[in-house]
Amino acid sequence: MHASTKIEARLFVAALAFLMTCFGLSVYAVYAFGLDVPTCVTSVQPFDKGEVIERAPKHYEIHYVARMWNFDPPEVRVPPGSTLDIYLSSADVTHGFLVMGTNANLMAVPGAVNYTKLKLDREGSYEVVCHEYCGIAHHNMIGVIRVTNEPPSSPPGRVAGVTGERELNPGTTAVTSLLEGKGCLGCHSTNGSQLVGPTFKGLFGKEEHFEDGSEARVDEAYIKESITNPQAKIVKGYQPLMPVVPVTDAEIADIITYLKTLK
Ligand code: CUA
Repeated sequence: MHASTKIEARLFVAALAFLMTCFGLSVYAVYAFGLDVPTCVTSVQPFDKGEVIERAPKHYEIHYVARMWNFDPPEVRVPPGSTLDIYLSSADVTHGFLVMGTNANLMAVPGAVNYTKLKLDREGSYEVVCHEYCGIAHHNMIGVIRVTNEPPSSPPGRVAGVTGERELNPGTTAVTSLLEGKGCLGCHSTNGSQLVGPTFKGLFGKEEHFEDGSEARVDEAYIKESITNPQAKIVKGYQPLMPVVPVTDAEIADIITYLKTLK
C-alpha cells in the first residue's frame, strides 16, 4: 500500500514535468523562431477587387476575389515562366481556390486575405476551381489562368487553349466571355442542362410560364427585363435568386443576338 502511493506520486511528478517541458518548448518556439498564430488581413483595398498587376517582366501580382459563383478576374493571361503572387479574399462566403495541376491551394475567407506564390513554366490553360461547397452553383465556380505568349486580346473568333485552337463564330467569343465574366454561366447553361436558372439553350422564342401563373413569349423585351429587373418575372420551378448584374444596353443587345443562335 505504502509503496504504490510512492509510485503514484513519482508518476504524477514525471507527468507534470513532461507537461511543463512541452509548454516551455512551445513558448520557446514562439520567441526563438518567430512562430505565431496566423493573422488575418481584412478585405480592404487593394484586395477588395479582382486585379492583375505586372510588377516586373514575368512577375505578376494577382488580387482574386471569390464570390458566388465566380472568380474575379475570371481569366488571367501570363507568359510562360511567370511568377504569380496570388492574394485571395472572398466577397461573401468561404470558397476554395485550387489551380489544377499545381500546388496553389487556398481558402477564400470573407474578411481575410490569403496568399500563395505560383510559378508557371508550362504553356497551357490552368483551371481555377472552387473546392469548398459554397451553394447551389458551387460546381460551376471556375476560372482560368492561361499561360501563353499570345497577346492578351486574341483576334476575335479564336480561342487559345491546351487542346489547340478552335474557330468560333465571330463575336461569339466576346459574348461568352462577357457572360462568363459577369457570372451568368454559373447559373445558366448553354447546353440545355438545368442549373440554378433556366438554360440559355432554346430560350429565345420559347413560351415561358411564371410562378404567378402568367406566361409570356421570350423576346427582346423579356430578355432585357430579366437582366435589368430579374425579380419581375420568376420562371415556374425556379427561385428568385438572380442578382442585378450591371451591363450596358450594347451588351444586352449582344447577349440577345447570342441567345438567338442557341437553338
Ligand atoms: Cu465557391 Cu464552391
